[in-house]
Amino acid sequence: MSHSDLAVSVNQLEKRYGTLAALAGVSLEVEPGTLFGLLGQNGAGKTTLIKILLGLVAPTAGTASLLGQPVGRLAARREVGYLPEDHRLPEYHTAPSLLHFYGALQGLSRRERLARIPFLLELLGLKGREQLRIRGYSKGMKQRLGLAQSLLHRPRVLFLDEPTDGIDPVGRKQIRDVLLEQQRAGVTVFINSHLLGEVEQLCDRVAIMRRGHLLVSGTVAELTPTKPTWLVGFETPPPNDLRWEGCRLEPADRPGLWRVHLDAATPDSIDRFLAQVHRAGLRLRHLEPERATLEDLYLTLATSERQAS
Ligand SMILES: Nc1ncnc2c1ncn2[C@@H]1O[C@H](COP(=O)(O)OP(=O)(O)OP(=O)(O)O)[C@@H](O)[C@H]1O
Ligand SMILES: [Mg+2]
Repeated sequence: MSHSDLAVSVNQLEKRYGTLAALAGVSLEVEPGTLFGLLGQNGAGKTTLIKILLGLVAPTAGTASLLGQPVGRLAARREVGYLPEDHRLPEYHTAPSLLHFYGALQGLSRRERLARIPFLLELLGLKGREQLRIRGYSKGMKQRLGLAQSLLHRPRVLFLDEPTDGIDPVGRKQIRDVLLEQQRAGVTVFINSHLLGEVEQLCDRVAIMRRGHLLVSGTVAELTPTKPTWLVGFETPPPNDLRWEGCRLEPADRPGLWRVHLDAATPDSIDRFLAQVHRAGLRLRHLEPERATLEDLYLTLATSERQAS
């Protein structure tokens, strides 16, 4: 993919605040239509990176481009939706009046706004509350309205800074569904988060930052390889004196499940385990190859740094 076709391209990007390097030479590419998750602890530099891409903060070194254009150009900025972290919406507005106000600022005609706003209110589950002023909104409602605002002008790239922070599970699921729908429509979604499980569930590609450095990036599958172990569950627990051949069983940290360690990691070794299950007259109700989670990776990276420093 050539440079000009990328949704986001960042090369050796650096941002210093005095002696602090908020970004210490970050390089990153995001292809169009990707649901991209940028992970990292507080202060890692995630928001700084988004702000540079939006042209809100100037880098001290390096280059960044958005939809093939250097950041800061109005043409690219127009194609972008943004949900800032800790955003504040004017309290005296209702959802429709706020969206009309922002829509007009973005140059949408009244006709476009009249078509788009009810659609977005419905999409984000805010329909039926059109009379309510924002001061009466719950946190989750504010977040969903913020998302509606970011989608108003049909952006090609969406930057969401902690979109589901502080939102209940039902609200999170709604937001995830909206983002997947955007992706299906070809939108690039760039999410900053420290919710590992959520990003793992939602994103095609992830990157992990710490203290201004990009540590790893790749698909979730690349970053979370399968382990040589399986998790199994039985209808009734296997007798303790059952002798397993070619493998070892131990109780797993998930209730009712066992972890199977295979002596040899050949493709048929799990089949040999299954044959023994069958011979012993046991019945399976769960069988799953174990894989590392993003949390495993994240914690490994965190401890390896502690040892190094
Ligand atoms: N305007 C500023 N002036 C001074 N330092 C800043 C400024 N903005 C950010 N920083 C510093 O840059 C570093 C990166 O901050 P940033 O907000 O990008 O982190 P983050 O990954 O978004 O963190 P969080 O998860 O807490 O939102 C932090 O150490 C922060 O204190
Ligand atoms: Mg941040």
